[in-house]
Amino acid sequence: MGRAVLRPFSRERPRPLIAVHVHPTEKRWFFVAVLLVVVMIGLVVYTAVAMSVHPPSNVEAIDSTRLHLTPEFAEENLGVKREKDGTVVARVVMARYMVHPQEMTLPADTPIVLRAASADVLHGLHVAGTNIATQVVPGYVSEVHTTINFGSVAKMGVPNADGSVSVPLFCNEYCGLGHQSMWGRVRVTRR
Ligand code: CUA
Repeated sequence: MGRAVLRPFSRERPRPLIAVHVHPTEKRWFFVAVLLVVVMIGLVVYTAVAMSVHPPSNVEAIDSTRLHLTPEFAEENLGVKREKDGTVVARVVMARYMVHPQEMTLPADTPIVLRAASADVLHGLHVAGTNIATQVVPGYVSEVHTTINFGSVAKMGVPNADGSVSVPLFCNEYCGLGHQSMWGRVRVTRR
């Protein structure tokens, strides 16, 4: 009868109490599942780094029922303005079932800030050919910082006589029966 010897640095693995048999097919699928997760995380990182696709985050509360009474989202202040420090700011109000203003002119290859607010329910704001895509949540101001690439807008949009290109701005979050008629135009000018 041998005595149990305690060998703390032994390379011998402790014997499992229950022998687990993993079927080879199951093992293969395990690797497939892990690979899928790696591919998906890779895609998120790739689109964020290479294509500037990232969720806009801006926590700024606003009373959606009184937008028209705020100095910023009052009707006369909507649209594109160049602020004193030179930044181009576009202000948009999304309301069932209209985008205000209906048309905006934005310069390409210039840093712009888009600020949007909803007057009623949840809307989505998407400008074709750009990476402008954000939810517009009632009660909050959505803010997008971006630079519009003229080339990618030109591929998507309709050319105008003056050399600018018009692309649609539309609501991409189902907001009610008139959702499909909620859109406007963005005219992008060459810098
Ligand atoms: Cu607003 Cu859909």
